[in-house]
Amino acid sequence: MSKNFLTILDLPMKVAPELVLRAREMKEKGYQNDMLKGKTIILIFEKASTRTRVSFEVAIQHLGGKSVFMTSQESQLGRNEPLKDTARVLSRYAHGLVVRTFAQENLEELVKFGQIPVINALTDKFHPCQVMSDLLTIYERTPDFSQLTIAWVGDGNNMAHSWINAAIYFPFQLNMAVPEGYEPDIDVVERALQAGAKIYLTHDPGEAVTGAHYVNTDVWASMGQEDEQDTRAKVFADFQVNRELLTLAHPDVKVLHCLPAHRGEEITDEVLEGPWSIVWDQAENRLHMQKAILEWIYS
Ligand code: CP
Ligand code: NVA
Repeated sequence: MSKNFLTILDLPMKVAPELVLRAREMKEKGYQNDMLKGKTIILIFEKASTRTRVSFEVAIQHLGGKSVFMTSQESQLGRNEPLKDTARVLSRYAHGLVVRTFAQENLEELVKFGQIPVINALTDKFHPCQVMSDLLTIYERTPDFSQLTIAWVGDGNNMAHSWINAAIYFPFQLNMAVPEGYEPDIDVVERALQAGAKIYLTHDPGEAVTGAHYVNTDVWASMGQEDEQDTRAKVFADFQVNRELLTLAHPDVKVLHCLPAHRGEEITDEVLEGPWSIVWDQAENRLHMQKAILEWIYS
C-alpha cells in the first residue's frame, strides 16, 4: 500500500523526529542521490505557490526523479473533470502526486481513487510539509523541544492546525492567540489534547507570546479568502507581530513566518528584516524537508 502524507498524523510516532534529523543530515551533506530514478511525480496546484512548488521540484531533481507541474486552470480539472477520474488517469502515468488544493477531502478522494502516494502541499485545513520543515528550523537552534514555548499569533486555520498536530509528536508548549471566531477547528484541538499535546488557547497575543522562544505567524487572509481581506484586517489588527509584542517574549526570541508575508499587516518590516527573523533559513529548509519526506514515502 502507498504511503501518503495528508497530515502530520499520517506519520508514525517515531518517524516525525526521524524526519527532522534526516532533513538536517541531508542539508549538511547537500544530499543528492538517484532513489527516484525512473519515477515521475505530478504536482497539481490549485493555488499559487513559490516555495512549496519549487522546493518540491528541486527536491525531486536532487533525488533523481522527474516532475510534471499542473494547475487546475490549465487542465480539465478547471472544466470540472471529477477528481476521482483525474486520480485514476494520473495513477497510470506517474508515481506520486503533490497536491495544493482547497478542501482536505480532495486529497482523500485522490487517495481513494488513485493508486499512487499523495502528499499535501497545502489545503485549507493543513500545511504539514511546512510545519515539518519549521520544526527543522527550530531544531537547528534549540534541539531540546521539551524546554520550548512556541507561540502562534494569528488565524486558526491550516498552519495553526498543523502546529497543533506537531505538538502531539514534539514535547513543546504551544501557546496560540487567535481572534474570537477564528479559533482552530475543535476536532483538531481535541484530538491533540487527548494525545497529550501541551496546547494553550487564548484571544490575547501578549499572553501567548509571554516568555516564548519562538513566535510564529501567517497571513490574515489565506489563499481563497481574498474577499475577506478588509474584514480580517480589522479583526486581526491587534495580532500583529511587532517589536512591542516581542518585548514580552524570551530575550532571544526568534520569529517564524511561512511566507509570503504581508509587511505592515501580520508582521512589521522591522521584525521580518530584523535580528528576530529566521524566515530565510525557514524557507531554505523546505527543500531539505521535502527530500526527507520523499525518501520516507518512497523507501
Ligand atoms: N510557505 C509556502 O507554502 O509558500 P508558497 O505558498 O510560496 O508555496
Ligand atoms: N495560510 C496561508 C499559508 C500560505 C503558505 C494560506 O493558506 O494562504
